[in-house]
Amino acid sequence: MNDLLGSMKKSCTCGELEKKHVNKQVILMGWVQKRRDHGGVIFIDLRDRKGITQIVFNPEINKKIHTKAQSIRNEYVLGVIGKVVQRPDNMINSNMATGDIEVLVNELKILNTAETPVFQIEKNVETSESVRLKYRHLDLRRPRLQKNILTRHKVSMVVRDYLNKNGFVDIETPFLTKSTPEGARDYLVPSRINQGAFYALPQSPQLFKQLLMISGFEKYYQIVRCFRDEDLRADRQPEFTQIDMEMSFVNEDEIIEIAEGLIKQIFKKVLDINLELPFKRITYDESIARFGLDRPDMRFALELCDVSNIVKDAGLNVFSNVVKKGGIVKAINVKGHSTFTRKEIDEFTEFVSIYKAKGLAWIKVKQDGWQAPIAKFFTDEKKQALSNCLNMEVGDIVFFVAASAQIANEALGQLRNQLARHLNLVNKNVYKFVWVTHFPLLEYDKVEKRYQAFHHPFTSPLEEDLEKLETALLEVKAKTYDIVLNGTEIGGGSIRIHSKGLQEKVLNALGIDKQEAQNKFGFLLDALSSGAPPHGGIAFGFDRLVMLLCQEDSIRDVIAFPKTQKAACSLTDAPSKISSRKLQELGIKVSELLEE
Ligand code: AMO
Ligand code: AMP
Repeated sequence: MNDLLGSMKKSCTCGELEKKHVNKQVILMGWVQKRRDHGGVIFIDLRDRKGITQIVFNPEINKKIHTKAQSIRNEYVLGVIGKVVQRPDNMINSNMATGDIEVLVNELKILNTAETPVFQIEKNVETSESVRLKYRHLDLRRPRLQKNILTRHKVSMVVRDYLNKNGFVDIETPFLTKSTPEGARDYLVPSRINQGAFYALPQSPQLFKQLLMISGFEKYYQIVRCFRDEDLRADRQPEFTQIDMEMSFVNEDEIIEIAEGLIKQIFKKVLDINLELPFKRITYDESIARFGLDRPDMRFALELCDVSNIVKDAGLNVFSNVVKKGGIVKAINVKGHSTFTRKEIDEFTEFVSIYKAKGLAWIKVKQDGWQAPIAKFFTDEKKQALSNCLNMEVGDIVFFVAASAQIANEALGQLRNQLARHLNLVNKNVYKFVWVTHFPLLEYDKVEKRYQAFHHPFTSPLEEDLEKLETALLEVKAKTYDIVLNGTEIGGGSIRIHSKGLQEKVLNALGIDKQEAQNKFGFLLDALSSGAPPHGGIAFGFDRLVMLLCQEDSIRDVIAFPKTQKAACSLTDAPSKISSRKLQELGIKVSELLEE
């Protein structure tokens, strides 16, 4: 009979049996979730991807099988044949989809035994992430990750379906390629055949998708792996996945419309949420002015206010000196929270110091006036001006940061998010989208002492700013758009440069002369001069999108086999040292210091 079971298929899953199946003979296969021995009768919760079914071994029905079942432990793999029966009334479990029935086993095959797992395969059992990542195959058995990975699959299906229906063509692009500058370090792969030469793993398929437009495919997409060697965070992995798209003969509005349609479809199909289109759009400048960051969380207000003009001559040196040196003073009014304690204020001060703010001044508005160490520096007139600007009322507390525009905005923008978390203003069930448009084309890197592309060097400047390419580089804005969901950048794209002359000009502004441009991007420049259509596109961070759909805080929880914070795979122990023979084959010598 065991052989019979071995050759038979499961007749149903562990998640589907209910009252109407009573008396049916079924074959189930799965893992032992839990085993209970109740006065001779053994109850086992048998689990597969679809759910859990209680199976019963009763010595009075079959002594031999009952005896065999005594050896069963958690995570053993079983195949059973049995009869579906209704549970006695007092054993009905309404928390379980299959809680009305159980299966009386009359055939058992132990398909495999299992060591006691290092952690329980259950919901809500706290296990450190390092252990979870080391035993990822077990972690992935747990309901939370099963659900996340299946959601990821569903999103991928919806994306493919939507893009296929809209005429997009799925085309693969190379992994062994040349560096594309998205702003991170490259992962390099040595070439054995061309010793001393290296491939770069793509940071994105950016240049290939542009070439595909030049080849006439008109609408391209790919759900594609990208590789970036950068400092990792909860929403950054060294290898991650993009939903990458590109279109010809389009403007920003048309790309945004297609992208919004895609997001709407995903939310409908995956969460049954009807999103209102179009999403709000704000410019980069407005985003920084109001929220301090280019990825504003729109679920709460707490907007920032530039008070430099009011405080610059107020007699408070920490403020006026900063403004004199070209910096700014920005403030945030936390309405109704003048009750913050010294300890809370100290914690916020510590928090902004992470972002290089040198201090966090504050004013509490009390019934009998301002309560603040800095209050004495303000005349009544200045107090009135600040009050008006910040809408200060009794019960409020206002925080100030004086610093360079970059530090003040970043520090207060981050503090805004931190305050929202602290005050529980963040509702995970609310989804607020915003497009942030017209980023600067370039930024100046003070350390490297050169200009860098804000997005990537193939982004088109706004037509009206073309002249400024000669005169005021930092004022040039670009045809870019990032999409932000609840404070996370989930995608970004741009209209591209499609003329060789303009591309050379922008590369030149980046400090890349003609010769270097030819060496690095000669293939692109050639292609641009061979009849390149106007084109543009966008890429979504697939992992980040799924993370938000699953209401997770880290993309590691929606990736089957993620890397640790140190870019390692603790399951396989990658990266690892390789033998000197292999190194020799590649013509590589590892510095002696590194070789143990
Ligand atoms: P960008 O660099 O903005 O654009 O990347 C697009 C989106 O990918 C996600 N993302 C990441 N997710 C996880 N880990 C990372 N390390 C990581 N880096 C980026 C973000 C981001 O919005 N080629 C352009 C797109 C284009 O212009 O069409 C590009 O790669 O959600
Ligand atoms: P100090 O003069 O350093 O004792 O600072 C007086 C108050 O101003 C303290 O509350 C500091 O936290 C705050 N402060 C100091 N530097 C800054 C700054 N750059 N921006 C905002 N507040 C500051």
